[in-house]
Amino acid sequence: METIKLNNGIEMPILGYGVFQVDSEECERCVTDALDVGYRLIDTAQAYYNEEGVGKGIKNSGVKREDIFLVTKVWIANAGEEKAAASIDESLRKLQTDYVDLLLVHQPFGDYYGTYRAMEKAYKTGKARSIGVSNFYPDRFIDLSHFCEIQPAINQVETHVFQQQRPAREIMKQYNTQIMAWGPFAEGKNNMFKNEILVSIGEKYKKSSAQVALRFLTQEGIVVIPKSVKKERMEQNFNIFDFKLTDEEIQKIRTLDTGKSLFFSHYDPETVEMIIGMAK
Ligand SMILES: NC(=O)c1ccc[n+]([C@@H]2O[C@H](COP(=O)([O-])OP(=O)(O)OC[C@H]3O[C@@H](n4cnc5c(N)ncnc54)[C@H](OP(=O)(O)O)[C@@H]3O)[C@@H](O)[C@H]2O)c1
Repeated sequence: METIKLNNGIEMPILGYGVFQVDSEECERCVTDALDVGYRLIDTAQAYYNEEGVGKGIKNSGVKREDIFLVTKVWIANAGEEKAAASIDESLRKLQTDYVDLLLVHQPFGDYYGTYRAMEKAYKTGKARSIGVSNFYPDRFIDLSHFCEIQPAINQVETHVFQQQRPAREIMKQYNTQIMAWGPFAEGKNNMFKNEILVSIGEKYKKSSAQVALRFLTQEGIVVIPKSVKKERMEQNFNIFDFKLTDEEIQKIRTLDTGKSLFFSHYDPETVEMIIGMAK
């Protein structure tokens, strides 16, 4: 598995497995399957309500904890230094572990500075091997970067062939923060799995559009965490390192970029109201 070195020197796999919208019971089976396929990076969150399933899945798999790169995120409802600290301990309990490999602020709303300070403490006390943020658009990302003690190792943002995050990636590079893609298939929006460019490139390598999309993102140096509840798709999504896209193919896929979200914008007041409402 290819790895990426984070700004504190630790290595993380460039390809992992995400469990958004998988209930806790199914998640237990999915995580065991994913580890059996070979995934060693698992991405969950307090807001997914499946950390317990992830913990059980890891236990069932027999894979050693130290061989797994485990990620969770602190939700807005737990924002603020004290509440976030307590929620981190609760996440560790549910995940049946003493530490996570990466801890993220899930959304830049509420007292996320307090949350980040709790995460810095968790980092210093060994409860998290690295810390970072998620859904931080350039404005909030730059602000936090200037006023925190420990520079975020990761910013996990919506990234796929239709939203390649080019301007944001330039900024993250300046701050030495690695981009991690959520929704690497755009959850299938825009008919991504049938996209002509991806399908035709895939025919040459006998790969699916999904595999071409993941190969593109990883060749661009982006960490990806595709989600599937089906083991055969987990396998498909894992088998992307036995071919390499040419520069010409990369250029072609770059033309799919619209530079816009297919989900929502954090600059839109209604979106902000909606996300904050979810935490109440
Ligand atoms: N930080 C955040 O705010 C945030 C937000 C969203 C997601 N995430 C993280 O990113 C992960 C991935 O994003 P996502 O789950 O939203 O969406 P995604 O990975 O872009 O897409 C998942 C969808 O694609 C389908 N699929 C998977 N592999 C396929 C294949 N090879 N061929 C055809 N269809 C396939 C899945 O269906 P089946 O399951 O039926 O196979 C599911 O409907 C999440 O699980 C989560 O860990 C984070």
